[in-house]
Amino acid sequence: MYEKILVLDFGGQYNQLIARRVRDNNVYAEVLPYTTPLEKIRETGYKGIIFTGGPNSVYKEESPHYDPAILKLGVPVLGICYGAQLITYMAGGVIESAPVSEYGPVELHVEQSVLFEDIPSHSSCYMSHTDYISRPPAGYTVTAHTADCPCAAMEDREHGIYAVQFHPEVTHTEYGKQILRNFLFRVCGCKGDWIMSDFVARSIAEYREKIGDRKVLCAMSGGVDSSVAAVLLHKAIGKNLTCIFVDHGLMRKNEGDEVESVFKKQFDMNLIRVNAEERFLSKLAGVVDPEQKRKIIGEEFIRVFEDEAKKIGSVDYLVQGTIYPDVIESGLGASAVIKSHHNVGGLPDCVDFKEIIEPLRDLFKDEVRKVGTELGIPDFLVWRQPFPGPGLAIRVMDDITREKLDILRDADAIFRQEIANAGLDRSVSQYFAVLTNVRSVGVMGDARTYEYTLALRGVVTDDFMTAEWAKIPYEVLEKASKRITNEVKHINRVVYDITTKPPATVEWE
Ligand code: XMP
Repeated sequence: MYEKILVLDFGGQYNQLIARRVRDNNVYAEVLPYTTPLEKIRETGYKGIIFTGGPNSVYKEESPHYDPAILKLGVPVLGICYGAQLITYMAGGVIESAPVSEYGPVELHVEQSVLFEDIPSHSSCYMSHTDYISRPPAGYTVTAHTADCPCAAMEDREHGIYAVQFHPEVTHTEYGKQILRNFLFRVCGCKGDWIMSDFVARSIAEYREKIGDRKVLCAMSGGVDSSVAAVLLHKAIGKNLTCIFVDHGLMRKNEGDEVESVFKKQFDMNLIRVNAEERFLSKLAGVVDPEQKRKIIGEEFIRVFEDEAKKIGSVDYLVQGTIYPDVIESGLGASAVIKSHHNVGGLPDCVDFKEIIEPLRDLFKDEVRKVGTELGIPDFLVWRQPFPGPGLAIRVMDDITREKLDILRDADAIFRQEIANAGLDRSVSQYFAVLTNVRSVGVMGDARTYEYTLALRGVVTDDFMTAEWAKIPYEVLEKASKRITNEVKHINRVVYDITTKPPATVEWE
């Protein structure tokens, strides 16, 4: 059995991020609610425990508290932000409302401590707090401060209890990764023996045991998350998993066939591909408004899925490719709500099932990709750029026809090929073509043309909330433009979109 760290969740925004930073060091971490019984924690035999931050004040009665006995288990503890204040409170120190709240990057001064080994005495840390530790508990030494926070870190080295007011897990804390490494390897004595294949093997075994002979249904989109979730489940329960792949006819060139081939031929999965192009295109005929397009596609998707699911009969579980960022954005768990997300909750009342299974809900995107590779899913799927649910419907401006979709598919395929040929397919976050509703005059072979303008778009972003336009080399754009106007009929002009988000969005519709 590999070593485990417990991340005890007190409702902080970054609790999974902490777990992920731990896992980055090949030490397995799991997040459990603060209500987890002490006995269960003792039995699991964790190498260390991290208390997360949280939005509360330790003195409020309704705030999450914990049995002080946790500090006496003999397991090293690191408290972060609220977690640090809770240690103070539980061990008899004093927490007060800080005269100056700190939000954002602040200069940190550290003293000699095992937690701060290999870290300069002055660096930057990320703070986000209104309360602070005004008097550490007896037996604790203050090991760091900032201008407005006299106790930014403290420790009871003898008992292995450490506390930091700042957030080592966020990138704004310059040496945060080193601080966590020091805790894991120098304080907890971890060896770093956990690898992604353990997660895969463990998940497969768990689901095999949990599901047994029961039936599972999965809505497969061909996107990274649903593909990885489906293959994982397939490895666990084989043909008892049925995947429904609704082909709405709005996919990129050859995409539907590629998806089908991987899952049917390579993995021999029970995949039903529903050719619903006609159904979707007839519903979309003449529709110009982008939100209307989205609504029609979303509803039709559910109807098609429902029709197919009915043919299968009742199932016990529904698999979803929810990943951790979807969970935080939806404000599930103990974190505060930020915004609702369309992936979570997914297909509501249309299928009769007992439970939703979300095998990737604790993972970040790059971890999901690692799982995908581990499962043997080909790179073109694992490294696929995001593709919107409504597909090319929101990349053909104005009304949608099959002819316009085909023009766009051919042009988009050329652009993607040229990006891949230039080795840019992993550094540009998302890149695609848009068939605009602008026609312009051109000249081809001495004759006047009056054809479509195609827009190319490439963006670089971490979270898609904001984005830079990708500085794709001119030669690559030139080659793509030349090939598109030569090889794709009805396009006589190609433009490149050089707008950031905001003010523009990534998609044009
Ligand atoms: P925007 O255009 O909002 O796009 O800047 C941000 C990211 O979201 C994707 N996107 C969608 N994904 N359904 C989806 O599943 C949609 O309706 C939708 N609209 C935009 C977009 O491709 C980009 O990755």
